[in-house]
Amino acid sequence: MPYPMDDLHPHRQNIEARERLDFGLDAPDIPRHWLAGDAYKSRFFDALSTMFPVGERFFMECVRDFRDQVQDPKMREDIRLFIRQEGQHTMVHNQYNARLKRQGIDVEMILRRHDAWMFGFQRRHLSKRYTLALTAAMEHLTAISAHALFDRRGTMDGADPRVRAMYAWHAIEEVEHRAVAFDLMQGPARVGYLLRCLAMLEALLTFFVMIEAISTYMHRRDGTTFWQRMRLRTAGAWWVFKPSGFVGSVAGRLLAWFKPGFHPDHEPAMPGCAVWTEAWRRTADPVAAGDALHAAGI
Ligand SMILES: [Fe+2]
Ligand SMILES: [Fe+2]
Repeated sequence: MPYPMDDLHPHRQNIEARERLDFGLDAPDIPRHWLAGDAYKSRFFDALSTMFPVGERFFMECVRDFRDQVQDPKMREDIRLFIRQEGQHTMVHNQYNARLKRQGIDVEMILRRHDAWMFGFQRRHLSKRYTLALTAAMEHLTAISAHALFDRRGTMDGADPRVRAMYAWHAIEEVEHRAVAFDLMQGPARVGYLLRCLAMLEALLTFFVMIEAISTYMHRRDGTTFWQRMRLRTAGAWWVFKPSGFVGSVAGRLLAWFKPGFHPDHEPAMPGCAVWTEAWRRTADPVAAGDALHAAGI
């Protein structure tokens, strides 16, 4: 399959590797519940952060499985930049997770269990084509989550600007490289439609089961009672699943995956991408760029 051309993929993004970004995540004044003092939302994103170190290592390995079969120089370059971006994400999420450790969260235990599932089971027992499809599906989820976080200002209103800026940078780069694993899956790996759909079903199940399990553990470490956790969960489920909520706001983009002719670059990128990039070029300050992205939301 030829590498997607611009006329077929009008929303193709340039991938840029940015390094040594400092968000000040080790500052002691970042509140435990950094997202508007909301325990559910803060722990939702904290749980997500603990999933990145193993998840992104998995993505990089699954992409490397097929890298040598790629002839197109542009595609090879995009794969190289994808790996550089994911490597940086993991480094920064490790800094983020160090803050969670200082709060008494056993991050190593979470990583060990996640590793056992992704590497001990999936990489060991499932085919390389399937694990690449799973990578592409999870990459689609991270790219559309960027929209859920920043297309509307309300989601990140009241967040600590340093933590929000870290998610802003990660969101921008996920949108930039959203098609890399997909193109590898459709091209050299020749993954069919059914395997692609199956991978997305597993990705969704994994995402929600893990977020639920990890955030519940974090709420327990925060000293909540069973009934307090029930109340948090009820309010949180509404925030996640209400029509204008985390899932509802990206449901169309999520379901698009199941259309046979789907490609990530058929959808416009986040409206705030250009705003973030301009602010980053002008200031070289990732927190200022994060503020600009948040302000660009409607
Ligand atoms: Fe990432
Ligand atoms: Fe990614």
